Amino acid sequence: MTASYPNLRLRRTRASAWSRALHRETVLTPADLIWPLFVTEGEGVEEPVASLPGVSRWSVDAIARRAREAAALGIPCIALFPHTQPGRRSDDGAEALNPDNLMCRAIRAIRDACGNDIGVLTDVALDPYTSHGQDGLLDDSGYVVNDETVAVLVDQALNQARAGADVIAPSDMMDGRVRAIRMALEMGGHHNVQVMSYAAKYASAFYGPFRDAVGSGGLLKGDKKSYQMDPANGEEALREVALDLAEGADSVMVKPGLPYLDIVRRVKERFDVPVFAYQVSGEYAMIEAAAAAGAGDRDALVLETLTAFKRAGCSGVLTYHAAHAARLLGA
Ligand code: PBG
Repeated sequence: MTASYPNLRLRRTRASAWSRALHRETVLTPADLIWPLFVTEGEGVEEPVASLPGVSRWSVDAIARRAREAAALGIPCIALFPHTQPGRRSDDGAEALNPDNLMCRAIRAIRDACGNDIGVLTDVALDPYTSHGQDGLLDDSGYVVNDETVAVLVDQALNQARAGADVIAPSDMMDGRVRAIRMALEMGGHHNVQVMSYAAKYASAFYGPFRDAVGSGGLLKGDKKSYQMDPANGEEALREVALDLAEGADSVMVKPGLPYLDIVRRVKERFDVPVFAYQVSGEYAMIEAAAAAGAGDRDALVLETLTAFKRAGCSGVLTYHAAHAARLLGA
């Protein structure tokens, strides 16, 4: 027999701040956050990204300072994305394999500045390096070829691991890439380098500002629908996750974030593995635009949305609001 009104009044436990704190089911802390950062050439450079108000590209020296700042705020991990100079982009994205590319220099600078105080996650996909803005190699018809791309992604992942990356995050959505990368990491002696796969990554309209930030937006012809998932599909996300786990992923990611919390929940319930979500650039821009338009309180929107990820089952969230949120949480 369950109680009913008036013996049961659910407002009773909500009546005071101490009681709300006591009954809170989900707690957001800075340790739940991964901070994506954009790296660019030069020294002492901060370049604001127009479509992402409050987000900048930083040169390698400055990115090391951002990493130290993150560690001091209690943020356990940062994610790096390079803005490759147009002259270094090519059809085959070969710059991804250069041991002295922007990404590798940034990883080493962060390691020098922070030691092992912070995790460094690196994105594996060719779009920051290709002249066409697609994540892989193209055949004559413009189709992104799978197996040839996987071979390059393996070398890209090894290049990042050798530079000191802690978490390899393939965001390319090629079939079979997790197994190939995991095997190469094992053979290369990188046993403790993790793989966080972008397992359920959708062909989304929310990535626009990110593509501006890495400089691939203006280059991209067509779309990414032949490899990224159809936003209408949920069952397929579970198959993608099952496959990536079978191939050796340590954790899986759902991307974008808020519009896909149902996927986060289904993945968590089905597999009970660490699930992460990426609150992507378009979501960040939407919150900033809403706040700027007076449609909501920025800080409240940030904390509410991030808490929602945890409630849905996420172990952590990639968010451009990470540093701001960590400060709000009183780190
Ligand atoms: C690269 C990649 C993208 C994002 C993360 N890694 C863009 C894309 O797939 O086109 C988007 C992140 C964001 O929008 O914040 N494959």
